[in-house]
Amino acid sequence: MHKAGDILRSKGNEVWSIGPEEMIIDALRIMAEKRIGALLVLNEGKIVGIVSERDYARKVALEERSSRTSKVREIMSTRVLCARPEQTVNECLALMTDKRARHLPIVDHKKVIGVVSIGDLVKSIIADQQHEIEQLQYYITH
Ligand SMILES: NC(=O)c1ccc[n+]([C@@H]2O[C@H](COP(=O)([O-])OP(=O)(O)OC[C@H]3O[C@@H](n4cnc5c(N)ncnc54)[C@H](O)[C@@H]3O)[C@@H](O)[C@H]2O)c1
Repeated sequence: MHKAGDILRSKGNEVWSIGPEEMIIDALRIMAEKRIGALLVLNEGKIVGIVSERDYARKVALEERSSRTSKVREIMSTRVLCARPEQTVNECLALMTDKRARHLPIVDHKKVIGVVSIGDLVKSIIADQQHEIEQLQYYITH
């Protein structure tokens, strides 16, 4: 079973983030530019929240706030679920399903070393299953 650290080795250790005092429009610009659905909110290197497209939809669009005059801290989620690199893909998926999170910062020795999304986990599970199917096909035909 692959671990969160294996996923980061293949996708990279990039962490896209924004500060809590930045404007929501700037968060949206970064998400659009990087083609991602969430940003970590960091203050002096520490995780203080996470802001997602869902936060935008529910707390800006629906509540008729302005993304140009409202700050990230006003809509970010402050309870951020994190995992360690040695946790398995299944453990990460269970955590995310249980807490209804789509993005999981991976933390090693109190330092954020990457982000794993629900899409990354599903991709890893599909690759594992494909590998297993190929091994079984080989077993049957040889
Ligand atoms: N083909 C692939 O390699 C692949 C990988 C991941 C997701 N997807 C697809 O993209 C869609 C949505 O994806 P999602 O659930 O992964 O969410 P997403 O669109 O937010 O994430 C897309 C990718 O960006 C990365 N990412 C997101 N936010 C990040 C951040 N703040 N810092 C660093 N990296 C960040 C994720 O880990 C993921 O690899 C789904 O349809 C999924 O199937 C495809």
